Amino acid sequence: MAAYKIIDHTYDVVVVGAGGAGLRATMGMGMAGFKTACITKVFPTRSHTVAAQGGIGASLGNMAEDNWKWHMYDTVKGSDWLGDQDAIEYMCREAVPAVHELEHFGVPFSRTPEGKIYQRPFGGHMSNFGEKPVQRACAAADRTGHAILHTLYSQSLKHSCEFFVEYFALDLIMENGVCRGVMAWNLDDGSLHRFRAHKVVLASGGYGRAFFSCTSAHTCTGDGHGMVARAGLPLQDMEFVQFHPTGIYGSGCLITEGARGEGGYVTNSAGERFMERYAPTAKDLASRDVVSRAMTMEIREGRGVGKENDHIYLHLEHLGAETLELRLPGISETAKIFAGVDVTKQPIPVLPTVHYNMGGIPTNVHGEVLRPTAADPDATVPGLMAIGEAACVSVHGANRLGTNSLLDIVVFGRAAALRAAETLKPGTSHAPLPKDAGDLGVSRFDRLRNANGPLSTSEIRLAMQKTMQNDAAVFRTSKSLAEGCAKMDQVAGTLPQIKINDRSTVWNSDLVEALELENLMDCALATIVSAEARHESRGAHAHEDYPERDDVNWQKHSLAWVENGKVKLDYRPVHTYTLTDEVEYIKPQKRVY
Ligand code: FUM
Repeated sequence: MAAYKIIDHTYDVVVVGAGGAGLRATMGMGMAGFKTACITKVFPTRSHTVAAQGGIGASLGNMAEDNWKWHMYDTVKGSDWLGDQDAIEYMCREAVPAVHELEHFGVPFSRTPEGKIYQRPFGGHMSNFGEKPVQRACAAADRTGHAILHTLYSQSLKHSCEFFVEYFALDLIMENGVCRGVMAWNLDDGSLHRFRAHKVVLASGGYGRAFFSCTSAHTCTGDGHGMVARAGLPLQDMEFVQFHPTGIYGSGCLITEGARGEGGYVTNSAGERFMERYAPTAKDLASRDVVSRAMTMEIREGRGVGKENDHIYLHLEHLGAETLELRLPGISETAKIFAGVDVTKQPIPVLPTVHYNMGGIPTNVHGEVLRPTAADPDATVPGLMAIGEAACVSVHGANRLGTNSLLDIVVFGRAAALRAAETLKPGTSHAPLPKDAGDLGVSRFDRLRNANGPLSTSEIRLAMQKTMQNDAAVFRTSKSLAEGCAKMDQVAGTLPQIKINDRSTVWNSDLVEALELENLMDCALATIVSAEARHESRGAHAHEDYPERDDVNWQKHSLAWVENGKVKLDYRPVHTYTLTDEVEYIKPQKRVY
């Protein structure tokens, strides 16, 4: 690729992404003495973690008795027994020290009158193995992600980590199955960069933007997923896409589940608190898949609100202006701006909205990326790690509990740094890179930059988003999924017809969006093909032709390899064991809330 001048860099560790997971890993790598770079396409404090609202789950027991084993039970149950219990044990046990550590780093948590970290109830979090809701979500008002992100960024700077801000990661540099680094494009001056590293950590977030309506930022485009797919590695459990019950009708902006944690509730057109019928114990605080399905059922059966009976009301008026101001100031403002609603007087119009990807890049509890084989379903890829929403550890299985994503990012961001410290000495010398190192990324960049077909990025993207929204929805059927697969095959087939109008290399947002679209397309294909193949209902995958969970045939992780728009599937076993003998494997049960 002689046409492009490449600038070379060498680091012990390169982290891709500066959300909570990326920053916790970056900081940890810096603390361990590694020469660490963090590459990020947006300024760190603008990463999507900034939008996380309600809290981070940890059984601190500040409000009432709690126990990490209850948290583990809830997480396994929430995952609908697709989560790996060794990883869930690790996360729930580590939650308490992880939150205390955040407190010491400087996260400004809300406080109880005695000065302890304030905790609120959240969906699916119960005391005593499912008995009644417990206050487990450690909150900084309703801006918890924002608070964590700022703290972790300042800690990363303190540990001398170097940031490459507004750099777009293009592709991994692989050599004989080993990850040797990553290619990136500096959006600001148009230069191309080759980062050589002993470890590349993908913390590039989810791919909510594969759907038409989502709570995710426009930057959530599955960039790490795309790089992994192009490296010939599989994506795991991609069919499990979480719908958050309370996205604002129309805009999709998130209204935190913490609103129901503080006592908010949903009603239908008859003013009925219908969650009492669907989940008699947990009611509005049942897990998200349960609440989203209940809302969709109410709308389908003609009990939706509004002119077209197509949404639901979330009531907070009864909480009073003082509580709303103290505990939910962010969403009060969001509701005003995006729904024109004064939450002290009126209900908020809401609708289940795509919020989180349980699936992603498969890893073990150390954040090491897997390349599963029949002989070794847990085989790892040397030099490559993934954490946060980009990864599938799998702690969330088929459905994530609210507050467990902030927890996941700090626990596994830290775990990745600990693993690196165990397996690598700072300053270890590097073997020379192969001659063609980085060519894959550069040629993809060049091909798209010069693309001159008849279709714009936005036309192809819209077709993909509409298909995914309609055919991989809260409820799925054999027919909708088969149609969705056929449509996605056709949409993906139009990618070579893309046209880029701007040929420059400096702040070329046309090109950025095209590169992102290729990443999103791989994610969308893996999602719909994996969903079509899974003949059962589990967690967020509600299949109307197969309404029961089938543990005999389907308690297994889907693996999807995407190559040139085609998906190949295989499966690997769920870990039906724990990490230590302090807890036993929790056998599958019927999920009752
Ligand atoms: O509802 C919320 O505040 C979102 C939290 C989460 O996704 O964990």
